[in-house]
Amino acid sequence: MVKSLVLFALCAAVAVANPVVYTRADVFNNSGKKYTLSVDKDNRSCICLKNTQTAKIFNRDAADMKLFSTSDCTGNYSQLERGATRNNAQWVNSVSMGKSGVPSIGPYECPNYFNR
Ligand SMILES: *[C@@H]1O[C@H](CO)[C@@H](O)[C@H](O)[C@H]1NC(C)=O
Ligand SMILES: *[C@@H]1O[C@H](CO)[C@@H](O)[C@H](O)[C@H]1NC(C)=O
Ligand SMILES: *[C@@H]1O[C@H](CO)[C@@H](O)[C@H](O)[C@H]1NC(C)=O
Repeated sequence: MVKSLVLFALCAAVAVANPVVYTRADVFNNSGKKYTLSVDKDNRSCICLKNTQTAKIFNRDAADMKLFSTSDCTGNYSQLERGATRNNAQWVNSVSMGKSGVPSIGPYECPNYFNR
């Protein structure tokens, strides 16, 4: 436990020394309002969108992005290429995005990103 705390502190220090670069994707609700999801470029996160309206999703610059109907990035997915937009994306309840070929972290929460 103490060891992992030390490791965490060390990682945090390294993160400060090397500013993290983010990879982003935009989600739009039915009224066209945009919310930008950001993930550390060197990692992959699963983001829960169950409570967030996703009329449209735009992958700005994520190397890899997968759309799921489950809320925890499990089961079948649909790939969304970098620079591509998916319309009629209301069925999407989670997305996994970031670096390719690494396991995703999370989701840790399931907010309505348009309402917080
Ligand atoms: C879209 O999001 C905005 C906040 O950004 C909110 O006020 C509005 O009610 C939302 N519209 C729908 C249809 O969810
Ligand atoms: C990726 O996530 C792990 C676990 O949260 C973290 O320890 C690591 O520092 C992250 N990588 C980068 C480059 O920030
Ligand atoms: C994934 O898709 C296949 C083929 O459409 C289907 O048979 C299977 O039940 C699906 N699995 C899940 C977990 O949705």
